[in-house]
Amino acid sequence: MKDKLGDIGFREGRVIETLLVTGGRREPNIAPIGVWREDGSYWSKIHKESDTYQNLLDLDVCTANIVGVEQIVRGLVGSLPVEDGVVEGADAVMRLEVVEFVDRDVWCLTRYSVDEVDVYDRCARGLCRAELSLLESAIHASRVDLERSHSEFIEHYREIVRKTGDSFEKELFMELVDCLRRGDL
Ligand SMILES: Cc1cc2nc3c(=O)[nH]c(=O)nc-3n(C[C@H](O)[C@H](O)[C@H](O)COP(=O)(O)O)c2cc1C
Repeated sequence: MKDKLGDIGFREGRVIETLLVTGGRREPNIAPIGVWREDGSYWSKIHKESDTYQNLLDLDVCTANIVGVEQIVRGLVGSLPVEDGVVEGADAVMRLEVVEFVDRDVWCLTRYSVDEVDVYDRCARGLCRAELSLLESAIHASRVDLERSHSEFIEHYREIVRKTGDSFEKELFMELVDCLRRGDL
């Protein structure tokens, strides 16, 4: 079977920033939430004080919309139309069902099965902070010679790559840092 979600960017351990729509048809709630693939399942880590968490307890289905930066921000400030779980302008949507809640203090790890994936744009690519952090790190690395404070930014992005990247992105980040250490940039 074609790996539609792999094509969108769901490589093992890589966190894709989605707009998660919960609450069913009547009063849908939209929130930016990271979703990742691990050991054959899809996961998110949701704060227990959020409406998203309450909605998932009430109704164990949701949609994860694959969108761009603009829609993520609009989703946060609450100005996006949504119909049947699909946010206006989404490039793709995953219909998810909760399989398991795993309690982690103020967080809840939620494991999902994927019921359906609809791709509206065949170029759909999920947003990943590791990818954006690699870009930012490369820019700072190219400027370290001009101003030492650029190294501090690179350290900041290292943590984001560690948390949200896959093994390829982590290796590439190390390559960049090694290159910088050798003074090869
Ligand atoms: C890019 C982005 C990613 C986010 N990822 C998560 C996440 O994975 N889990 C979470 O609980 N909150 C996450 N948040 C914060 C929630 O979206 C935010 O707290 C939201 O207000 C919760 O809304 P709700 O109460 O309507 O569910 C994220 C925010 C942004 C901007």
